[in-house]
Amino acid sequence: MNKNSEYILGINQTELERLEFQHSVWKKVTDNFFDRIKIQKGWKCLDVGAGPGLVTADLRQRIGDTGEVTALEPSELYLSNFKEKCKINNWTNVKFLLGNMEDMNLEKEHYDFIFLRWVIDFVPSPENFLLKLLPSLKKGGVIAIQDYVYEGIFLYPKGGAFDNIDIAVRAYWRIGEGDPHFPVKIPKFFKNNNIELTEYTPVGLAGDSESNVIEWAHKFFMTHIQLMADKKVISQIEADAFLEDWLKHRDNPDTIFFSPPMVEVSGVKL
Ligand SMILES: C[S@@+](CC[C@H](N)C(=O)[O-])C[C@H]1O[C@@H](n2cnc3c(N)ncnc32)[C@H](O)[C@@H]1O
Repeated sequence: MNKNSEYILGINQTELERLEFQHSVWKKVTDNFFDRIKIQKGWKCLDVGAGPGLVTADLRQRIGDTGEVTALEPSELYLSNFKEKCKINNWTNVKFLLGNMEDMNLEKEHYDFIFLRWVIDFVPSPENFLLKLLPSLKKGGVIAIQDYVYEGIFLYPKGGAFDNIDIAVRAYWRIGEGDPHFPVKIPKFFKNNNIELTEYTPVGLAGDSESNVIEWAHKFFMTHIQLMADKKVISQIEADAFLEDWLKHRDNPDTIFFSPPMVEVSGVKL
């Protein structure tokens, strides 16, 4: 990562716990994606921006003892949390790479599968990021990405401040030099870089005021709306209005929350 840009979501225990809850809500979506990709026993996999290794652990189960999975992650807190989990469970087919992907010297044509969930939208120069990554994928290997196109999020009943939350979140991504629309650029990137697009599917989740989907969004907005104001992405007045509208909806049994679409993209290296 560019030394001057920041990873906007931050690294701390609260964020780690949010990532764990988030994984419990979206796990079935990622599992279905992996089913369609048909991940094989014995594959060598790389989980880029693995966080505390939640998907890495799921991949480990799929590839079995003859396979190998590597968690690449710049946060020492997240990686050591995952290392500890691997030690307790005596998982021996897991490798760890600490650092930003941009600073890694990855082995050429080593991996059968490279995966990125909720990473590519945050990094500056995502095309360069992928260009650095691709030589480590074997010919015939699969690269798969899950990330948002940050549009379409909404809260019913409409009419309050939250109707404009997508504008604020996109601006938040951009102060870290991320691109909240990057998945729309991936098909062209694949075409230009010898990757055959095999899937491009948007998926969304929705739920009422008692659902785990709204609880997942709650954990994000309760922390990050104030951080958006602290970082001057929005004013304090806007932050207060977003939170007031959100909390009003949380108490309303008629509320339905729709997540932004997450795009599932996969391609094979020719
Ligand atoms: C929103 S979290 C997602 C974690 C995990 N992929 C998941 O699905 O739970 C994004 C992760 O990307 C990592 N990250 C940020 N910049 C990165 C970079 N330049 N190279 C590799 N990982 C990065 C962060 O440290 C963080 O753990």
